[in-house]
Amino acid sequence: MNDVSRRRFLAAGVTGVALAAMEGCTDLGGESETSLGLPMPPIDVDDLAWAHVRERFILESEIAYMNNASLGMPPHVVAKAVCDGYEAISREPLHGKHDLQEIIAEQVVPGLAAYFGVDEGEMSLTRNATEALHLQAMGLILKPGDEVLVTSQEHPAGNSPWMLRAERHGIRVSEVFIPSPFDSGEQVVDLMESAITPRTRALSFCHVTRGGHLYPVKEISEMAHRHGLLSLVDGAQAVGQFSVDLHDLACDAYSASLHKWVLGPAGTGFMYVREVARDVIRTNFSAGATVESPGLAPGGTADFPVRAALATALDFCNALGANQVERRCRYLSNHLKSGLTQIDGVTILSGPTPETSCPGSTIFEKEGLDAVRAVGLFEERIGTHIDEHQRDGHNAIRVSTHVYNTTAEIDRFLEELSTARA
Ligand SMILES: Cc1ncc(COP(=O)(O)O)c(C=O)c1O
Repeated sequence: MNDVSRRRFLAAGVTGVALAAMEGCTDLGGESETSLGLPMPPIDVDDLAWAHVRERFILESEIAYMNNASLGMPPHVVAKAVCDGYEAISREPLHGKHDLQEIIAEQVVPGLAAYFGVDEGEMSLTRNATEALHLQAMGLILKPGDEVLVTSQEHPAGNSPWMLRAERHGIRVSEVFIPSPFDSGEQVVDLMESAITPRTRALSFCHVTRGGHLYPVKEISEMAHRHGLLSLVDGAQAVGQFSVDLHDLACDAYSASLHKWVLGPAGTGFMYVREVARDVIRTNFSAGATVESPGLAPGGTADFPVRAALATALDFCNALGANQVERRCRYLSNHLKSGLTQIDGVTILSGPTPETSCPGSTIFEKEGLDAVRAVGLFEERIGTHIDEHQRDGHNAIRVSTHVYNTTAEIDRFLEELSTARA
């Protein structure tokens, strides 16, 4: 890459947008975009206000994608940034790689740190939440017989590392039952607190569960600290749905995927370790690591184009604004919930209040409808992608709607649901 094209790539790599515009990608023009080509922040929450944002996604027109909790749907600019990055390292690997590394070091890591309210040195990039959860669990200094509490609603990615440590290091893993749904955050704190024993060293739990239940991370973390315990969080389903300030949440470690609600490219995530917890959550990689130089991040050649495209995803999220994203997601799931209450045989299983349920994911059962079979049924009949939630004692369907969904898509789904049996 020569100097001119390198500068052009770097400038566009930040957002992927300048280059995208040059090469004939979506250009909405008018007042729907900022001078950087990003969508203007919608002021209202309705479909009209978000129509210009929706146009930034390249989903096939006959599909309604309501399964964001499984895998987020990146906007076109993010897909384009990944392509540009791959082109750059294919055309000129040496400088292409350096340029991408520069974007990662100078924009992605600082951008993530700013977005989540932490210091850059507290952020380690990973391929996903699973990898981050593994590193945060394996890095915790524990001795045989020490206990870690998990909750009954953890994802396997949150539990498996502890099971491995039980097998390999003789630690004890105890599961705290949390009802689905639960009544209040206080109930979750009380249930976890009453399970603490003299052997407990850490609490490991979701911020948002797979079913969309919202745990009170700050209150649990403060309770954990009162008992001298660590608070380790799985934020895979939380980040990107609403504003997350990790210092304010007071947890010691937090792992997340960026390819769900942050709309980053697949294969992106991070692990945050609070600076003061570095003496007890240690590296899995580097001999001679110190508190000042903790070596927490996996090393080696990385998926540079994918990681660098996170700069674009962050620009996109920042352009919309985390609070606006939350309001829009709530608006859509409230629309869905209100329609569900009109359908015979439907029971909503999401938490009853905004304090207990996340903005974007909704779970419910319908009498006579098998959730696993329903997934195929809705795809076949109306091209709508949803997921099943046959866990926590439920035969539930999970609908996870992000800002790009519309009330028309939800209405179509509700209409089909009203007669569906499987
Ligand atoms: C709560 C929770 N934690 C962890 C994960 C794992 O995420 P990833 O596949 O990005 O590693 C998921 C995936 O759906 C999840 O829902």
